[in-house]
Amino acid sequence: MSSRQIALVTGANKGIGLETSRQLARAGMTVLMGSRDEGRGRQAADPLRKEGLDVRFMRLDVTDEASIHAAAETIGREFGRLDVLVNNAGVAVEGWDAKPGTVSMKSVRDTFEVNFFGLVAVTQAMLPLLKKSAAGRIVNLTSILGSLSEHRDPNSPIHGMLCTAYNASKAAVNMFTVNLAHELRETKIKVNAAHPGWVRTDMGGEGAPLDVTQGAWTSVYLATLPETGPTGGFYHKDVHMRW
Ligand SMILES: NC(=O)c1ccc[n+]([C@@H]2O[C@H](COP(=O)([O-])OP(=O)(O)OC[C@H]3O[C@@H](n4cnc5c(N)ncnc54)[C@H](OP(=O)(O)O)[C@@H]3O)[C@@H](O)[C@H]2O)c1
Repeated sequence: MSSRQIALVTGANKGIGLETSRQLARAGMTVLMGSRDEGRGRQAADPLRKEGLDVRFMRLDVTDEASIHAAAETIGREFGRLDVLVNNAGVAVEGWDAKPGTVSMKSVRDTFEVNFFGLVAVTQAMLPLLKKSAAGRIVNLTSILGSLSEHRDPNSPIHGMLCTAYNASKAAVNMFTVNLAHELRETKIKVNAAHPGWVRTDMGGEGAPLDVTQGAWTSVYLATLPETGPTGGFYHKDVHMRW
């Protein structure tokens, strides 16, 4: 059995997932970089390997049950456990102007397929492996846009941002986080939701104030929590957000 911690990051071929993989590997972990596309995944992993980091490409489409179970089977066979799961893969299918009264049902379904159903399916498949870890950590990438309190507050920076499919998918991620943390409260596994901030990626756009190094901070913080750390929370950096 590997003495290094084993981490799986979904959607690791670019953006926050790629940078999270780099930072976890620099912290000494073996990082399995999930990507739904082999070419993009290997292209992302190769430069990190050249840096001397222990990262490996892992084919993983979070909407494809067969690919999820193949990944879990491979991790079980090669490592016998999983220490960190970062559920990072995400989409904003119809952009930021898809309002609740008009957003297409296809967009709602496609968004939930990745951001929520995919996240639940990956987590359930990896749970038996996480239970074999001495200190399992699950990090669910959510958003301030999943916060009901922020949407209701006229002074919030996101008040009136009505991209409902994305917002609702992340609110669902928050609920899953709280419920799973409760279910696992007697175990060594901690489950938390991460808001990375507004980050310059393909999703965040060029106008975002944070670079990916800053954007990966919350995921890495929650992935490396000590035994005394929180579970069932919603964080940006180490500050708890309003639900
Ligand atoms: N950027 C921000 O400002 C911001 C703010 C709040 C929350 N977030 C959240 O942070 C996470 C990362 O966002 P990002 O900004 O880094 O986005 P990004 O640059 O668009 O990267 C998204 C990643 O998810 C992958 N992905 C999409 N569908 C997938 C699927 N079915 N299976 C596996 N992987 C899939 C993409 O793979 P492909 O390259 O194959 O498409 C890509 O690797 C997301 O959950 C997002 O909602 C981002």
